[in-house]
Amino acid sequence: MPTLLVVNSSPFHETSVSRHLSEEFVQNWKQANPNGRVITRDLTSSDLKTVDAAWVGASYTPKDARTAEQKQVLEVSDTLLGELRAADEYVFGVPMHNFGVPSVLKLWIDQVASRWRDVCVFGGRAEGSVGGEEGYIPGGYRRGL
Ligand SMILES: Cc1cc2nc3c(=O)[nH]c(=O)nc-3n(C[C@H](O)[C@H](O)[C@H](O)COP(=O)(O)O)c2cc1C
Repeated sequence: MPTLLVVNSSPFHETSVSRHLSEEFVQNWKQANPNGRVITRDLTSSDLKTVDAAWVGASYTPKDARTAEQKQVLEVSDTLLGELRAADEYVFGVPMHNFGVPSVLKLWIDQVASRWRDVCVFGGRAEGSVGGEEGYIPGGYRRGL
């Protein structure tokens, strides 16, 4: 079953242009994928935290060696990565805020991107952990995203 992940980041709702556009995409996608599943992530109600030292420490600890506290620190990130892994396609509703993305979207990127660290380029093709299990690469990034 194809799965679409919808990520919205506007602080506005009914009047939001980006939400209107992402919703239009969803309706078209549903028509093209009548058996498809849609996962919706509204970043303005997700209470995402900034990445701090505890988060980085937990993230860089091999999965099997993490303490219960470290697992808890990564819970939100695990949920967000789970949504990414579950999806085959993605649509992002993104207004421009002060010549950048909304701060909630940057928080989302921080929660997922650095744990997507075993993405490598083989023969011009990107391969990464988002579709599989998280891998720990001693020394950090091989090819960071
Ligand atoms: C806090 C804030 C900052 C913005 N900064 C910019 C900007 O730097 N450049 C720009 O072209 N528009 C800027 N805009 C306008 C929005 O990008 C634009 O209105 C967009 O359609 C908003 O999308 P939304 O309706 O989905 O929230 C800003 C709007 C807000 C509320």
